[in-house]
Amino acid sequence: MILEAHDLVKRYPLGDGSVDALRGVSLSVAKGEFIAIMGSSGSGKSTMLHLLGGLDRPSEGNVLIDGVNISQLNDEEATLTRREKTGFVFQFFNLISLLNVAENVALPFLIAGDSLSTHRERVDALLDLVGLSDKAKHRPDQLSAGEQQRVALARALANEPAILLADEPTGNLDFVTGTEILDLIWDSCDRLGQTIVLVTHDARAAAYADRVLIVRDGTIRDEIELGRRRDHEARPLITRLAALGL
Ligand SMILES: Nc1ncnc2c1ncn2[C@@H]1O[C@H](COP(=O)(O)OP(=O)(O)OP(=O)(O)O)[C@@H](O)[C@H]1O
Ligand SMILES: [Mg+2]
Repeated sequence: MILEAHDLVKRYPLGDGSVDALRGVSLSVAKGEFIAIMGSSGSGKSTMLHLLGGLDRPSEGNVLIDGVNISQLNDEEATLTRREKTGFVFQFFNLISLLNVAENVALPFLIAGDSLSTHRERVDALLDLVGLSDKAKHRPDQLSAGEQQRVALARALANEPAILLADEPTGNLDFVTGTEILDLIWDSCDRLGQTIVLVTHDARAAAYADRVLIVRDGTIRDEIELGRRRDHEARPLITRLAALGL
C-alpha cells in the first residue's frame, strides 16, 4: 500500500473545549489507485487530506506513506518526506505571483536548492503535459483560471510524488475547464501510474475515481467501488449515492 491511515483523530481546541474534526479514520490506498473523498461541508475532508499528505499532524493515529510512518517523524523529517512523496493541488491554485510559469512548476526543485536550468527538460515535459509550453514566461496573473490550475498541477507532479493530493481542484473552474483538469489528473493516474486522492463534493469529479469514500461527521461512513472506467460517466455514482440516501 502506498498510503495507509490508522485510527486518525484530529482534535482542534475550541474555546474551553475542543472539536473532533476526525473521529477515527482508517484507510489504505494501493499504488496507482484513484480515490475520491466526498462529504458535506465541515465533514472533515480537508482535515483528512492534510493529515494524509503530512501538511498537518493527527492528534491520534498514524499515517504511512510508502511504508514510512510520517506521524512519528520530527518536523524537519516530516517536511522532507512530504516534499519527496506528495504533491498538492488546492482550490485556489496557490501559485507564486512573482515567479513565471516555468519557475512555478520548478518550485519543488528551487526549494531543494537546485536551479531551473538543471531541471529544464523535466519542466518542459511538464509544461507540455499540461499544454502550456507556449506560456512558460507568463506570470500567473497573465493566465486564465484553468491555466493557473494546470500550472499548479504540473508543479504538484514535478518531482514524481508517490501521491497526488487535490482539494477541490475544480471548485473555482467552469465545467469545461474543470473537466480538462480532471482529464489531466486521470491521465497521470492511468498512463503514468500516479496515485491520486481527490477531495470533492462534485459527483462528476468523483466519478473519475476507482473508489469513492463518503465522509460524515469525521468518519468514513460509506465506500463506493467504481472500478477503472474510461467514460467517467457520473450517473452510476449518482445512483449509488442516492441509494445511500446522499
Ligand atoms: N483550525 C481549525 N480549528 C478549529 N476547527 C477546525 C479547524 N479546521 C477545521 N475545523 C473544523 O473541523 C471540521 C472539519 O473541517 P474541514 O475543513 O475538514 O471540512 P471539509 O469537509 O473540508 O469542509 P468543506 O467542504 O467546507 O471544505 C469543521 O467542523 C471545521 O469547523
Ligand atoms: Mg474542505
